[in-house]
Amino acid sequence: MTRILAVTDQNINEAAQEAAAVLRAGGLVGMPTETVYGLAANALDGRSVAKVYEAKGRPAFNPLIVHCADTAQARRYGVFCARAEAAAQRFWPGPLTLILPRRAEGGISELATAGLDTIALRVPAHPAARALIAACGFPLVAPSANPSGALSPTTPAHVAEGLGDKVDLVLAAGACRIGIESTVLDLSGDRPEILRPGAVTAEDLSVALGEEIRRHRPDPAQLDAPKSPGLLLRHYAPVTPVRLRAVDVAPGEALLAFGSLKFMGLRGGGFARDLPETHLKNLSESGDLHEAAANLFGMLQALDKARAVAIAVMDIPNQGLGEAINDRLQRAANSPFENTL
Ligand code: TXA
Ligand code: MG
Repeated sequence: MTRILAVTDQNINEAAQEAAAVLRAGGLVGMPTETVYGLAANALDGRSVAKVYEAKGRPAFNPLIVHCADTAQARRYGVFCARAEAAAQRFWPGPLTLILPRRAEGGISELATAGLDTIALRVPAHPAARALIAACGFPLVAPSANPSGALSPTTPAHVAEGLGDKVDLVLAAGACRIGIESTVLDLSGDRPEILRPGAVTAEDLSVALGEEIRRHRPDPAQLDAPKSPGLLLRHYAPVTPVRLRAVDVAPGEALLAFGSLKFMGLRGGGFARDLPETHLKNLSESGDLHEAAANLFGMLQALDKARAVAIAVMDIPNQGLGEAINDRLQRAANSPFENTL
């Protein structure tokens, strides 16, 4: 049985010590972060890292993010250019992952970086994650704690539901504040490029770095070898088909709403607001993108259980955090690219 250990302000250090002991012994820990729950393992130990791939059913060509306690620790594993220093200074600890040239002498498991000469580094802000990494003394790989290709977990219950006893211990610290995975910024090339949008937006980064930030657009022709291996076009997917930019709800569909439901009708007559509770979730009645991001995966997961014909999703503005929300929804909807991840 997976042990679930509730973390409070009072017991945070003991909880971190207990989880660190599990990791030191080569086990896996469900780790709360401000974005989503991670499935943590010792990044220096190949056997621990292999367990992460196995537990998630994740293909070994999809590299993991290495989580560090602070920038000083991260510098041991990646080569920091001036841009990386500026981004770390401004956004760490926080929801930003940097792709940098890898330092081979750092000792990170080659499996974690999937044989690439770059490495993904992040310093998370959640107090439980910080306490845990500090207690370990070694860095942690931590992909989202879900079976590969499934929705990312934003509560301890999602972790336990998705991975069962493949995870030895879950540090339970309630729902994640942000609810969407970190922004992945590639600084290994000539120009900075966002590989995965997140709570740190292109605008935020362009202010901090003083230059324009490109957004990587996945190329359907290159599906087999995407630039960031995790950026397969279908990902974060519920089982139920997802229909975007819905202006009404078809018979048998569930609705993922955003903002007011006033003008949302049922095809053939009636109002969306009268849908049964199992078939209707609103990301944010007031149209707040932060609230919507925090609710996204949990609500998709809940609607997926309704076994509806499809999940209709209302339009979400593509500004600020809306870009990251739409990115995840787009992937959830890309059924033609269905893969086995
Ligand atoms: O918010 C987050 O980032 C969460 C929490 C737990 O920290 N973690 C997370 O990890 O989302 P994961 O493994 O689900 O996503 C990591 C992404 C994948 O898309 C992966 O392909 C990409 O980062 N990635 C990792 N290393 C890379 C590299 N060297 N080059 C390009 N992409 C890389
Ligand atoms: Mg993931």
